[in-house]
Amino acid sequence: MTRAGKSLRLIPAAPGARILGWGSSQPDHIVTNDDLAKRVDTNDQWIRERVGIVSRRIADKDTLLVDMAADAGSKAIADAGLGPADVDTVLVATCTMPNPIPNAAAQVAHKIGISAPGAFDLNAACAGFCYGMGMASDLIRAGSSRNVLVIGAEKLSDWLDWDDRSTCIIFADGAGAAVLGPAETAEEIGVGPLVWGSDGEMHEVIRIEQASSSIRQEGQTVFRWATTQIAPIALRAIELAGLTPADIDVFVPHQANLRIVEAVARRLRKAGAREDMRVAQDIVHSGNTSSASIPLAIDHMRAAGEISRGDVVLLVGFGAGLSYAGQVVVCP
Ligand code: UT7
Repeated sequence: MTRAGKSLRLIPAAPGARILGWGSSQPDHIVTNDDLAKRVDTNDQWIRERVGIVSRRIADKDTLLVDMAADAGSKAIADAGLGPADVDTVLVATCTMPNPIPNAAAQVAHKIGISAPGAFDLNAACAGFCYGMGMASDLIRAGSSRNVLVIGAEKLSDWLDWDDRSTCIIFADGAGAAVLGPAETAEEIGVGPLVWGSDGEMHEVIRIEQASSSIRQEGQTVFRWATTQIAPIALRAIELAGLTPADIDVFVPHQANLRIVEAVARRLRKAGAREDMRVAQDIVHSGNTSSASIPLAIDHMRAAGEISRGDVVLLVGFGAGLSYAGQVVVCP
């Protein structure tokens, strides 16, 4: 209340948000395990068995993170049946921009031709896309935004030590995007409540020490954390959405390691998820693309007919921070 007795007005809000479209972008250049074995002491069998990757996409030096993000974003806007003028907010989840300013989102918006949107980046590493989906849904619900373009985009190849076999075989480049808009009725709500958090005590287990450094990670520590902590977070997201594990049609976790994906899926099935729940395995041909891995997996599964309209999809992202987030969404 102001001193003059007036109260501030809020913009009428939507009951929730729904997803209107998806898009993705990957570099053309495919790098196989055998290619990497020419440079570091590794082999195809070790990488397939321990991580699940067969090949990954790596961008050339002239392809920027914002190029991949803009490509994915444009496709998502078209998939939504919208044009750039319909989007009023652009959010890019990324942890691999080459410079702190300017942010990726304003550049991406400019490349796509979106005029004067709210534009900001968000860094929650591999949890970034789910953080972004949560932010977008809440912005729409509060009336701050109408149609939000959420992009997860990474050029991890810029931050890799190509002589470190424990990291260069895992990470890759790419971008994935979703457009979210208002649900007009409660029945139309397509983005469930966000479950999110972090554990800063473990901040050193995945890190880039300074601008001139490369990614280092304590793989075993992260592996143990992910295989024990992620299933409860996923189950909480299901519960908050008012569903049960049996309602989940598709499970799309961050594509960190196929063994982590399978371990979490096993725990969800023990908790009641169906045997026929489809589980994303996009890491096999995309590698670990951090914040891009979830929307890339979804877009590829849609193209392959493995996700269709109305499917209930469980998302969960986790990584450096450590940070994590998840929610249930309904596919358009
Ligand atoms: O996306 C962000 C979140 N990140 C994650 O979730 C990553 C989680 N962690 C992992 O995915 C796995 O821990 C890694 C894939 C990073 C490593 O797999 P691992 O089964 O945990 O292997 P390890 O680190 O325990 O290493 C086992 C052995 C070691 O050799 P010794 O000491 O047993 O002789 C490593 O030196 O494998 C060796 N090694 C390799 N061998 C062949 C490590 N990297 C390689 C390699 N090729 N590329």
